[in-house]
Amino acid sequence: MTNPTIGIMGAMPEEIDGVISLMDKPKRTVIGMRAYTSGTINGINTVVVFSRWGKVAASATAATLIHIFNITELIFTGVAGAIDSTLKIGDVVLAKRLIQHDLDARPLMGRFEIPLLGMTYLEVPEETIGILKETIAPLFTNGILQESIGENVLAEFGINTPNLHIGDIASGDQFFAAEAQKKQLNAALPTVLCVEMEGAAVAQVCYEHSIPFTVIRTISDTADEKSHVDFPRFISKVSSQYSLLIVQHLYRGHIQPLS
Ligand code: ADE
Repeated sequence: MTNPTIGIMGAMPEEIDGVISLMDKPKRTVIGMRAYTSGTINGINTVVVFSRWGKVAASATAATLIHIFNITELIFTGVAGAIDSTLKIGDVVLAKRLIQHDLDARPLMGRFEIPLLGMTYLEVPEETIGILKETIAPLFTNGILQESIGENVLAEFGINTPNLHIGDIASGDQFFAAEAQKKQLNAALPTVLCVEMEGAAVAQVCYEHSIPFTVIRTISDTADEKSHVDFPRFISKVSSQYSLLIVQHLYRGHIQPLS
């Protein structure tokens, strides 16, 4: 069996900077306007990269991680806008299934169906979800997130007791910033918890190459008219910390069983 090499992608530089700080002997390689940092975390070969935004950017980055860096597993960490009303800012969603909400080749095939794959959702295996849940759960139950982010910042964003959710994530090349947009998505895809711009594309590339993938998203906004307001500050103060803590916890427990 080949040595595991984990690819970690983030859609914001701040989200991957913290992860890079965990690395031993980081080496930077620039390919196609992206800087890939390779090294080890806890002795495990790892490549970390800022994917840039959107499905095309994320797919190109995932393909490079697979073909040039020979990753054996991919983890995407980033932020998402809440679609389901039970989600709060600061909650985390582990993707169970991913769907491209802007994919529509009707009448050639059903709405949202991925051409030639004959699939609509890409699924993370139940076993993987179980391992991820177990590894990340202490962040929520032991007050670790609260402690490391600090009361003032949490209060600024109205984060009280963050929760971990498992469910459907929808991806597309749109930033959601209107209640009407959100309602439309909810009507078409009622099981979707949150929306972002990369996850389902990365999942498709990984599926096509038989690479296990994980998408973990922190809720940064409510995907409505208020969504852009505190976005940069949320990234720098909250989600960058979440990504760091999540990756630290993942490396403590799960890596071997996932591959
Ligand atoms: N990522 C974080 N917030 C988002 C939103 N409102 N729409 C799309 N992607 C997002």
